[in-house]
Amino acid sequence: MGDNEGRSKSAIAMTSSLAPLYPSHLQTLMQRASTALERGGFDHLVVPSGTIHYHLFDDRDYPYAVNPQFKAWAPLTSIPGSWLSFTPGQKPKLVYLQPFDYWHVVPEAPSGYWADHFDVVVIREPDEALQHLPADPARCAILGEPQSALGDWVPNNPQAVIDYLDYHRNWKTPYEIAMMRLATQRGVRAHRAAERAFRAGASEFGIHLAYCQAAGQDANELPYGSIIALNEHAAVLHYTERDRVPPAQVRSFLIDAGASHGGYACDITRTYAADASGEFQSLIDAVDRVQQQLNAKFTAGADFRQVHLDAHLMLAGVLHEFGVLRASAESAVESGVSSAFFPHGLGHGIGLQVHDVAGFASSDAGGRIEPPEGHPFLRFTRKLEAGMVMTNEPGVYFIDLLLDKVRQGPHADSVDWDRVDHFRPYGGIRIEDDLVVTDGEPVNLTRDEFAKPE
Ligand code: GLY
Ligand code: MN
Ligand code: MN
Repeated sequence: MGDNEGRSKSAIAMTSSLAPLYPSHLQTLMQRASTALERGGFDHLVVPSGTIHYHLFDDRDYPYAVNPQFKAWAPLTSIPGSWLSFTPGQKPKLVYLQPFDYWHVVPEAPSGYWADHFDVVVIREPDEALQHLPADPARCAILGEPQSALGDWVPNNPQAVIDYLDYHRNWKTPYEIAMMRLATQRGVRAHRAAERAFRAGASEFGIHLAYCQAAGQDANELPYGSIIALNEHAAVLHYTERDRVPPAQVRSFLIDAGASHGGYACDITRTYAADASGEFQSLIDAVDRVQQQLNAKFTAGADFRQVHLDAHLMLAGVLHEFGVLRASAESAVESGVSSAFFPHGLGHGIGLQVHDVAGFASSDAGGRIEPPEGHPFLRFTRKLEAGMVMTNEPGVYFIDLLLDKVRQGPHADSVDWDRVDHFRPYGGIRIEDDLVVTDGEPVNLTRDEFAKPE
């Protein structure tokens, strides 16, 4: 658990609801690790938590980012210099660095619902870890960054081990889904505060501050840099500039922002119109309907490449209905014109990382499934299966760079450019939920939370 997540009453209530779920999560990890070690021909899994990185020619440090292979085992996001080691058939060991340090706040002693499940050794100096790691480093799969090397324990990142762990990480345990629900609680609370700040006329920077305040997390703790875009800025897919002054006329607001809980992420996007009775609001409503229809396609057995192509057809249908596309939806998808309006993938796996690993993996022993021709930014090409957590994030945007290409190309007539000019000042629309795939309708973590009263 992050340092500032552990103390409030509500955090304690959350913790007690996680405790019964944690043992079977750990059991799943140990099973996966055992098979992964077999695949790679190793006896021990060793995972350093990672180290602090410094700015070049400077003593200033970057925000610490824990090794995701480490935080998978326990909600420990702020103990650099620590190590996890696991030998099949034995209790996992946690070598926990709690340095003597009067310059910084020292991590609290290990405690919580996870702690009894490890043999915990507290060390005071990073080098002390050497005494507590498995005896023969050559028999260890060591997963980490090069900078984590300690003596002969040098990360070797065996591909067979990583392929297996990453592939299976796409299936979330009930514990992990509970963690993501807690991240979503924070995220939705903060999204509501951000909408209020937008309605009150705040600048992008002001909305960002309102978001962080309500999330109780600052930019270093959030799972990714929040996208807080007014008007045309919504057409920049990863807009992170944040103007300090609001525009003279505020027309639209796109916010793509998440929150973290114990190392797990949520990833949520909403789009708002300043004028609730204007045409842009109607376009948002139409994209929202498409998004909800697409939610139903996130079901076990679906080929995600096809769901992405379905999204193109449905969004092109909306653009046709609104007079932006003269061409039929089918021909706009076939010619590639729909990609100028929807130039990113429909979604991605999410969990310990906002863009989770192994989205292209064809098996747990490697191999890659390419995205469909003409859709290079799709990040997930696997079949959906029950227990995966995915984002569903369709959008339509008015992006000069991409639309200019269409205008100068053979399909210029398929677009009504006056209608493009009409919508350009609003930038774009994206609506993003996080879904747990099941054999039927998905569980919608995001909308479940928005449906609760404030
Ligand atoms: N927030 C980045 C994304 O939606 O993928
Ligand atoms: Mn996303
Ligand atoms: Mn997002």
